[in-house]
Amino acid sequence: MRKKLVVGNWKMNLIQPQAVSLVEALVRKIAVTDAVEVAVCPPYTSIGAVAQALKGTKISVGAQNVFWKDSGAFTGCVSAPMLADAGCKLCIVGHSETRGRFGKLEIDADDVGYFAETDKTVNQKIKALLYHSLMPILCVGETLAEREAGNTDDVIRRQLEGALAGVDCSELGCFSVAYEPVWAIGTGQVCDSKEASRVCGMIRKTLAGMYDQETADAIRILYGGSVKGSNSKELFSQPDIDGGLVGGASLDPDDFATIVLSAV
Ligand code: PGA
Repeated sequence: MRKKLVVGNWKMNLIQPQAVSLVEALVRKIAVTDAVEVAVCPPYTSIGAVAQALKGTKISVGAQNVFWKDSGAFTGCVSAPMLADAGCKLCIVGHSETRGRFGKLEIDADDVGYFAETDKTVNQKIKALLYHSLMPILCVGETLAEREAGNTDDVIRRQLEGALAGVDCSELGCFSVAYEPVWAIGTGQVCDSKEASRVCGMIRKTLAGMYDQETADAIRILYGGSVKGSNSKELFSQPDIDGGLVGGASLDPDDFATIVLSAV
């Protein structure tokens, strides 16, 4: 039986005092039981303060991105051993925003290349995280145009195979996937729960084909994209959805607490 996992992706929000207040509120509201695992992913600048504030609680801290080299002349980058040192246990990889795929384009099209993460860099990041015993949360998902063209499953299979190229099943001890349809992220347009579960099931089947059923059955597959307290119970009760990756609603302690409790 897979334990449900609920992860807050704070994106580029909150300075340190706000970040600490948010987790202090969460600790008061969420009595994390053994039935659910909870983590928050603040921006790099608040990871240390949040890790400190969460010491002794069951809520873990993660990062939103990582560079694959351990150290060196890579200005502006942060490595997996640095994340571990700061108190992280997990890291989001391949989010549609870092891949430069936005549900509703709010930035200048000329600037999209700045976020140019590819299946190859996602693969290198996953290898670095696994090597340093940090759990990757690999995000996969289709754009609206890809869905409308009937390519959803092919896009996701390609993302999975690219991200995990050369990763042996013995290295996949702690690994999870988040199905995040790009058109559902930050739009309020949640994916139908049955369809989300179907895609999560397809992801598990693909992983079973790449590895074996036992390995695939041990991997948590989350849903992300406009998860809120009002829809999380329905999503988390689907057979193939093992929790959620929550953006906007994770900045509201009441809503995030409701989401976590609905996973129990
Ligand atoms: P959202 O974001 O919950 O605000 O849609 C989810 C995510 O980007 O991980």
